[in-house]
Amino acid sequence: MTGNDIRRKYLDFMAKNGHAVIPSAALVPENDPTTLFTGSGMQPLVPYLMGEMHPMGTRLSNSQKCFRAEDIEEVGDNRHTTFFEMLGNWSLGNYFKAEQIPWIYSFLVDEVGLDPEKIYVTAFQGDESANIPRDTESVALWQQLFTAQGVSCGVGEMGSEASGGERGMKEGERIFYYDGAKNWWSRAGKPEKMPVGEIGGPDTEMFYDFGTPHDEKFGNHCHPNCDCGRFLEIGNSVFMEYLKTETGFEKLPKQNVDFGGGLERIAAAANGDADVFKIDLLQVVIAQIEILSGKKYTDNVEAFRVVTDHIRGAVFMIGDGILPGNTEQGYFVRRLLRRAVRYADILGIPAGELKNLAESVIINYEMHYTNLGEKRTDITEAIETEETQFRKTLENGLKQFNKISLQIHMQTKEIDGKRVLDREHAEAVKAISAQNAFDLFTTYGFPIELTEEIAAEKGLVVDRAGFEKLMDEHREKSRAGAEHKFKGGLADHSDKVVQYHTTTHLMLAALRNILGDHVHQAGSNITGERLRYDFTHPEKVERETLDKVEAWVNHAIKTGGTVTIETMSKGAAEKDPAIEGSFWERYPEEVKVYVVAGNNGTVFSKELCGGPHVSTLEEIKGTFKIQKEESSSAGVRRIKAILTE
Ligand code: ALA
Repeated sequence: MTGNDIRRKYLDFMAKNGHAVIPSAALVPENDPTTLFTGSGMQPLVPYLMGEMHPMGTRLSNSQKCFRAEDIEEVGDNRHTTFFEMLGNWSLGNYFKAEQIPWIYSFLVDEVGLDPEKIYVTAFQGDESANIPRDTESVALWQQLFTAQGVSCGVGEMGSEASGGERGMKEGERIFYYDGAKNWWSRAGKPEKMPVGEIGGPDTEMFYDFGTPHDEKFGNHCHPNCDCGRFLEIGNSVFMEYLKTETGFEKLPKQNVDFGGGLERIAAAANGDADVFKIDLLQVVIAQIEILSGKKYTDNVEAFRVVTDHIRGAVFMIGDGILPGNTEQGYFVRRLLRRAVRYADILGIPAGELKNLAESVIINYEMHYTNLGEKRTDITEAIETEETQFRKTLENGLKQFNKISLQIHMQTKEIDGKRVLDREHAEAVKAISAQNAFDLFTTYGFPIELTEEIAAEKGLVVDRAGFEKLMDEHREKSRAGAEHKFKGGLADHSDKVVQYHTTTHLMLAALRNILGDHVHQAGSNITGERLRYDFTHPEKVERETLDKVEAWVNHAIKTGGTVTIETMSKGAAEKDPAIEGSFWERYPEEVKVYVVAGNNGTVFSKELCGGPHVSTLEEIKGTFKIQKEESSSAGVRRIKAILTE
């Protein structure tokens, strides 16, 4: 069964069971300043899990593109990938455990054809201090399902991951209770880690047993949550019904289900091979690397996996409009591609081939992710440019590296054929190395592993600990920067950004006037140079219409007027049809409505917002110009516009 088959079967199965199949959201979350990437299927659905009505109903399903940046360095083993697809289904206060567990069992066993003898499951043991009961219902449901097929299903108490390793699994056991670190899911992790206002709940996880021998490095005995590789988690049903409050936990107004299952992992289970890179979706790329490099995957697993994973990740990112760059999301695309070049070199893949590998990723996925086919040229060109650029910096970086190593060489002595640091200078030299490694990384794009590899070739060591410290500081700074940058979609609160912000209010009002009331904000990102704005609309907006929108906005700016704030209760604002708002759930009970009123008496716009805005329209300098209109995701269009002098 191919990965494409499994995705299709899952979505068909969920559709048959009354789910609306919704499109995958983009890899970059819109209007979610808490994170750079979409890392799970539920992330784009948080407002609905918290109680907002979803336009497609209360049973939803999709295959969500996900990216976990924290896994970049982990890629190389048989299971980690940065990009993956999460098959998801959600009940927004509709069905609960009694439907979810039999469905997912039926999908895995009847549709995918997994042997139930190889499926193991876990459930939440309860948490007395948080007053959350043990999940006996899920366990009873699993017992019924396994028993009906004559599969032994004893229940074991594991507790923590470590105690699970001590205890191991007893004869006949298949269902295990674990603590909140393992069987509780929220975006922040276990119950104690959740910030006030975050939602979460107990979960029940499904594991596939590949039957590989246990490795004692990971604990005395094996168990489903052991990391030795025998078991692979293939699905997780979260019973999302709790909200963290100041005093503890409160039940959400509705009981929700949030299921997520890694498509690649389910395909690996269907293959009976724990190596996710062996599934057809990735083998296409691996086969091409074998041809280009003349090497075998089995002899070079790590490098093959890095190139394959990173190219696929970069294709999907660029497909979602993220180009390689030095900040935020673009930085990760750059890192993926640079590591891919480096590992491609290790394999002896000729220069300039990455774009062709990208092409096979696109061919493989474009049936389902049609944006990849539409953006084929953008994607392959961006990859080609990045590869060429990096090869140039690589050359300069190597020259720089040679200078550094010469300096160090002069402070070392040769002992037994090895160059070691002169004791007296050791500390000083080490300190320089950390800074040098850091500079090589930031200026020349040398990943630390590359610096270490080249250093080793020259008989030198790198102060890795010092480097990591500098990197931590650097990350702190960029994290703070990213948090700041994405607050409310505004880059900062500078004069120009504020002008653009008020202009977006006028633009939304114009769009709603011209296109209709179905237009709402779906996301925004505003800097001092331009505005980028996503809005709900089913089709392309013709240039003629864009011209009308431009004229409307420019007319308002020319008319001049004031921007005032009306404070009112959220309930009252929500009821007033003249007030436009999105993301209501993110606002407090008392809200601010920004009113743009023209000097001619016309009210141009009334919109729920957190500000800041200009006080008078005369402060907006320039003529409003829409540069581009394109698709953002299904049913959502994106406009890029500027204020020109
Ligand atoms: N949101 C859950 C997860 O990511 C399903 O595991």
